[in-house]
Amino acid sequence: MVTGLKGKSLLGLQGVAKENIELILHTARKMKNVVNSDNKKLPLLRGKAVVNMFLEPSTRTRGSFELAAKYLDASVINFTPSGSSLVKGESFRDTLLTVTAMGVDAIVIRHKQEGAPALADTYADPIIVNAGDGAHEHPTQALLDLYTMMEVKGHIDGLKVVIVGDIDHSRVARSNIYGLHSLGADVHLVGPRTLVQPEMEAMGVKLHYNLDEALDGADVVNILRIQKERQGVGFFPSEGEYRTLYGINRKRLTRAKKDVLILHPGPMNRGLEIEPDAAYWTQSSIQEQVKNGVSVRMAVLYLTIIGGDDSGITR
Ligand code: CP
Repeated sequence: MVTGLKGKSLLGLQGVAKENIELILHTARKMKNVVNSDNKKLPLLRGKAVVNMFLEPSTRTRGSFELAAKYLDASVINFTPSGSSLVKGESFRDTLLTVTAMGVDAIVIRHKQEGAPALADTYADPIIVNAGDGAHEHPTQALLDLYTMMEVKGHIDGLKVVIVGDIDHSRVARSNIYGLHSLGADVHLVGPRTLVQPEMEAMGVKLHYNLDEALDGADVVNILRIQKERQGVGFFPSEGEYRTLYGINRKRLTRAKKDVLILHPGPMNRGLEIEPDAAYWTQSSIQEQVKNGVSVRMAVLYLTIIGGDDSGITR
């Protein structure tokens, strides 16, 4: 029986053993059969309770964690700052202690502050799952990206994966780099110099500032959202210039391999970092990524809360 993740928080992909990443991807494949079936309920987490504590906006991650927990028959509380005693001044720590006192088994946390889930892990007994913390990590997004690459390409080892855009502010990029390296991919980063610091090279990636050069022979192109909320800071002169130099469209993708896979974690700025002809192309798996997010999060909740083998995951 494999119990590699049982009782462990998932705070990031940095330092997560390759076997455990493979275990999550394998379990997610079984969970996807459940999601694709007529009866999506599998009572593996019956009697368990999960809190989704999203202190920053989210559509995909929050929705898919809620569905994942409900499909596995856990009790679920959804928690947002405006509907909680945080607005009355209760601290993050006291909020965690309060939720812990209710006897929950896992707390899924999204927070604008880097390190908030790790801090929560020191305060609270339940398993903590990082659903995105500032510019630090977004492990389940990277896991669903890896899952999608594996599903389409059949392997990750040796793939040239190009991550495009606002690398410096991207938790998705960081978690992807850790996971992709663990599974043997060749990782390239490209974007404006103001959004791709040379220090990133220390992560063992290849840096580019020219998009066409980076796309040459790419197997996978993962396009990051331009975080418009940060653009007042002036990381590039105009959206028009960014689109001209780094926007992904079908013409640009002729530099990549013919069967290149297009990914985007969402939400997309269509017409800025990606054009509709690439976003809705048959070689884009952007909607499938969202679907895979449910099965990957089912796998993460199951493996961290219960552990065990995959014999109970049948459809
Ligand atoms: N990819 C992602 O984290 O999207 P949401 O912000 O909608 O959860």
